[in-house]
This record gives sequence, C-alpha cells and structure tokens, in this order.
Amino acid sequence: MTTSTEATVRRTKIGIVGAGSVGTSLAYAAMIRGTATDIALYDLNTAKVEAEALDLSHGQMFASDTRVEGSDDVAVLKDSDVILITAGAKQKPGQTRLDLAGANTEILKTLMPQLLEHAPNAICVLVTNPCDVLTVVAQKITGLPYRQVLSSGTVLDTSRLRWMIANEARVNTTSVHAYIIGEHGDSEFPVWSSASIGQVPLRDWEIDGRKPFTEQRLAEMTDQVVNAAYKVIEGKGATNYAIGLSGIRIAEAILRDLRSVLPVSSILDDFHGISGLALSVPSIVGRRGVEQPLAIPMGEHEEQQLRDSAQAMRKALASLGF
Ligand code: LAC
Repeated sequence: MTTSTEATVRRTKIGIVGAGSVGTSLAYAAMIRGTATDIALYDLNTAKVEAEALDLSHGQMFASDTRVEGSDDVAVLKDSDVILITAGAKQKPGQTRLDLAGANTEILKTLMPQLLEHAPNAICVLVTNPCDVLTVVAQKITGLPYRQVLSSGTVLDTSRLRWMIANEARVNTTSVHAYIIGEHGDSEFPVWSSASIGQVPLRDWEIDGRKPFTEQRLAEMTDQVVNAAYKVIEGKGATNYAIGLSGIRIAEAILRDLRSVLPVSSILDDFHGISGLALSVPSIVGRRGVEQPLAIPMGEHEEQQLRDSAQAMRKALASLGF
C-alpha cells in the first residue's frame, strides 16, 4: 500500500537569502528542529548554494523529513511563508553594525522587489545588519505592512543576557525573564527594572545570603552583552550559531502562529512617543508577523536609553536618505 504524505502534511516553507555561515546555520537549525517541511536557500554563488543544500540533504535521515533545495535563481524562494534575509557584508573586527548600512541597503534595493515578485505573502525577517535600519529600508522599498517586515533584532542579545544571568544565578535559562531592547547594536540596553528570575526581582536574587546582581555587576553584564559579538568575531571571524537559533525561533513563532513574546525589531507607531523607526521591544509574533509591540514598564533612565537608541537609528537612516 502506498501512502502520500503530500495529501496529509501542510507544506511550510522557509526561504533563506544568503548561503554563508549565518544562512546555513539558520537552515541547519530549522532542519534539526523540524521547523518547516521545505527550506530553500538562495545565493548568487551557484557552487556554494548547491553544495550547502546537498550537504544538508545528506543529513536528512538524522533530522526531520525536511526538503532542502539551493539555487542561484531567486525563484527558488517562490511561495515561502517566511524569508530570512542574511545577504550582505558582515562585520569585520572593529567594525560596527551601522558601518554596513550603505552597502547592505544597496543589496536590498535589488533583492526586495524580487522577493515581492516570488513570495508576496512571505513574512520578511531581516538578519543582515544593521538589521533595524534595514527593516525600515526594506519596508519603504516594498510598501509591505509594518507587521510583515521585521528583524531578528535583540532576540539574540536577550538570549546572551539570559544565559549570563542564568549562569550566575545557577538557574535554568528559561526561568530568567529579562530583555535587551532598542537597537541591535551599540545603543541596545537591558530593562533591568522589570528583570526577574521566576517572580523574584533580579536585584533581590540571593545566593548563599548575598545579592550578586549589584549595580556594578549589572553594568558589567550590560557591557558584556553589548560587546559579545565583537568578542566572537575577534576569535572566529563571524557569529553564526546563536543567530541561527534566534532566527529559527522567530520563524517557528510565525509558521506555527505561536503568538510568542519575542524582542524582534519592527517599525514602531507611537511607542513611548517613537514612530517610523524599527527598534526591538517585546512583541507578540505570530502567523501575520508582528501582531503587537508590548508597552512594557520602563524606568525614566530606560526611557531615555530608548530615545537615545531611536536617535541613533534616525541618524543612520538620514545618512542613507531614508
Ligand atoms: C550578532 C550579529 C548577528 O550580534 O549581529 O552576533
């Protein structure tokens, strides 16, 4: 008796633009987690993208039954439900993410109309940096609804922060509730005022009768998170695994309509008085993309940090003519 899975499984498709270390880490994470039934890799480097798709497919027996294809033809992304964009120049040691804005904007000017043609309903997730600035650029080029163009933003930075706190507090990372918000870059900051472990405010957490999360320790951790990527890039030339996991977590929230709260970056509309700029704030993410940014409580200092982050984005966009 033959059975056809085609009839019983709703196919879901992730498109990935760029078959470099980040793009292939996204594909690898999606395959291992069974995020989608189909993964399409697109890259102008024919040999590379075909080899990456082949190498991934060779592992299909050990991962989910995910179909992987790779092509230098953008049509391979046709009808993707989610498209993760990693194409573009990446940070070199000492470079800031904002330094990449000009070159990567030019790439989007060609790419975004092609994505609209082949996958007009796809939720677009910018991973390429500077991802907040490029979210605004991609939305202006395409005219897509704000909810449909987002970036991975500070999902990765929030994971870095929670990992550090969990290690120090000796608890599981999933029990740490803390966010990095703002720019995915040098002006990002933690919202310490609402950070907690379980229901215990972070500053009140005690280990052996002492409170480890002093103001000095919080300042040190902030610096470690803000500069985490620079440290990895210095040692291995790029970051890829954690951003791969972060991007696929976002894709899962979209494909499965999880309505997860994630600090993705999307264009804000009168969020603490900020409009027309993309910054990361905890937002509900589901099938339609960014359903709703959440008006999280912030202290006056944190409000000022958000305004500072917004100003950095405004300046970067102005320099690009957006
Ligand atoms: C990082 C890159 C993805 O923070 O911006 O690792």
